[in-house]
Amino acid sequence: MELQKIDNNKKDYLHLLLLADPSEEAINRYLYDGELYILKDGPLTAAAAVLYPLSDEECELKNIAVLERLQGKGIGSEFLKQLIKLASEKYSYMLVGTTSQTERFYKSLGFEYSHTIPNFFVDNYPEPIFENGIQCIDMRCFRKKL
Ligand SMILES: CC(C)(COP(=O)(O)OP(=O)(O)OC[C@H]1O[C@@H](n2cnc3c(N)ncnc32)[C@H](O)[C@@H]1OP(=O)(O)O)[C@@H](O)C(=O)NCCC(=O)NCCS
Repeated sequence: MELQKIDNNKKDYLHLLLLADPSEEAINRYLYDGELYILKDGPLTAAAAVLYPLSDEECELKNIAVLERLQGKGIGSEFLKQLIKLASEKYSYMLVGTTSQTERFYKSLGFEYSHTIPNFFVDNYPEPIFENGIQCIDMRCFRKKL
């Protein structure tokens, strides 16, 4: 699998980005200032992610998504490991905002709990967001030293 940076026609990957963030409006707020990376499996785009600069020393993983039919096969972990390696050339820390369902994924790659943003999912999205029938309200952020 091969990592590629995408600078043009970023909207071509919206179908993937919407798997991790249900609001196109929210995606538009970080897609153009952020760096979009995809993971290619031959001609197939298997995953996409956006790294967003927060400061000279910290970036935020704003979105990471694997094609639905390929989830749970280790592709997300492999992709994030490659992104961590790449980001470590420029940044000292990577931050990520999670939902309860994805905390385990990040913890398994060495991210540690940092802080909680109360009501994030209520305040930033026009519609309530549900994950496995439970409404997402607060966002818990995790950070990794690169
Ligand atoms: C989250 C996501 C990127 C992980 O990629 P993946 O290829 O499915 O994950 P992997 O197969 O590499 O799994 C890595 C670990 O995370 C866990 N995990 C992966 N996806 C999970 C999910 N949706 N819920 C709970 N645990 C999950 C796996 O159990 C695995 O842990 P284990 O090895 O201890 O069992 C992928 O499932 C996805 O695109 N989900 C939808 C979009 C999304 O929610 N993105 C995150 C936004 S915060």
